[in-house]
Amino acid sequence: MRALAYFKKGDIHFADDLPEPTINSDEEVLIEVSWAGICGTDLHEYSDGPIFMPQDGGSHPLSGKKLPQPMGHEMSGIVSKIGSKVTKVKVGDHVVVEAGCSCMDVKRWKESPLKGGKTCSACEKGLVNICAHACFTGLGTSGGGFAERLTVSQDHCIPIPKDLPLDVAALVEPLSVTWHAAKVAGFQKGQTACVLGAGPIGLATILTLKGLGASKIVVSELAQIRRDMAASMGVEVFNPAEHKDAIAELRKIPEGATGFDAAFDCSGVKATFNTALHVTTFRGVSVNIAIWGNKPIDYYPMDITLQEKRLTGSIGYTVQDFKEVVEAIHTGEIPIDDCRQMITGKQKLEDGWEKGFVELMNHKETNVKILLTPNNHNELST
Ligand SMILES: NC(=O)c1ccc[n+]([C@@H]2O[C@H](COP(=O)([O-])OP(=O)(O)OC[C@H]3O[C@@H](n4cnc5c(N)ncnc54)[C@H](O)[C@@H]3O)[C@@H](O)[C@H]2O)c1
Ligand SMILES: [Zn+2]
Ligand SMILES: [Zn+2]
Repeated sequence: MRALAYFKKGDIHFADDLPEPTINSDEEVLIEVSWAGICGTDLHEYSDGPIFMPQDGGSHPLSGKKLPQPMGHEMSGIVSKIGSKVTKVKVGDHVVVEAGCSCMDVKRWKESPLKGGKTCSACEKGLVNICAHACFTGLGTSGGGFAERLTVSQDHCIPIPKDLPLDVAALVEPLSVTWHAAKVAGFQKGQTACVLGAGPIGLATILTLKGLGASKIVVSELAQIRRDMAASMGVEVFNPAEHKDAIAELRKIPEGATGFDAAFDCSGVKATFNTALHVTTFRGVSVNIAIWGNKPIDYYPMDITLQEKRLTGSIGYTVQDFKEVVEAIHTGEIPIDDCRQMITGKQKLEDGWEKGFVELMNHKETNVKILLTPNNHNELST
């Protein structure tokens, strides 16, 4: 099979002889991939990995699977075969894949080292996105969407309406990350929000908050190109570098309030963490979506206590988040045209390393999402 795969530390390349995925359990579904987006996490896996991927020569702690594996965890496709007990999708359905894997998936993998063991306490409570063993399809547990096809359990397949374009559907995954974060925040229609950072996740946060009916969204971002992208999505933009006291200036923006109802850190540096905490109003909520390195930072707990603020974080997503995002795109609450603005490139699998990964690593700011496809070669970027 043709795929762009992770072979070992520092080695991601295209190959045309990867093993064909097959249905190994009654509940599995074979999907012909249409589109799959490259994510910052994929780039990290190259530059600093293996992080989620199995260590070189070893097997994955959740699935027991080894390298090489096709990467890609943001994908859409069409079901081509189903196991004998599959009821949630049928052959021909258009689907997106909820890529999170947890204790609940162990039964699928004969080679899993956790087979027969205890389910973690988060999974016992149904909180599979915070599973103690959480990982992702396309990031080590099993082959992902930078391939002609993949198998997943039916529990991770979400059918989508046939009039929802499959390229836009590949964005349901990053949108589900931010949809989940908005739910963790308890974000309500009519509330105001400050988004820190306008990379792919910051932009997805904008689309989510617009979809949820935010009354005002202000995006703070250092890079001009990214501020322009955010502005074209119809939100107010702010350059923190232009202000001596950016926090004080941001807090003034929501009319008749002493700050924002919610703030989302989509950047993950001390300055954005602090800004997110301080630009919220009393009883406001600050959500850390960013993934941080191992270095802790300081903050003053009384900044939370004296105004009864909330500081929380959000990780991954659930199938329910995917369903709600699909619905929001289908009803137009998240407009397809806004989604399309996030797609800055479309490339074939064969070019995925050079024109996808390398392009994103060298020209981060001019790109948002580059999608790869094994077959839609008439729709590629020039
Ligand atoms: N929680 C989750 O489930 C989850 C899922 C996916 C990604 N993430 C994380 O979300 C974060 C964002 O992802 P991304 O792909 O958009 O990253 P990105 O690096 O492309 O975007 C970050 C943006 O922040 C901007 N920035 C940096 N310093 C700033 C400052 N002081 N003020 C304002 N803006 C500033 C940068 O210019 C950049 O545009 C990453 O940490 C990523 O790992 C989390
Ligand atoms: Zn991702
Ligand atoms: Zn678990």
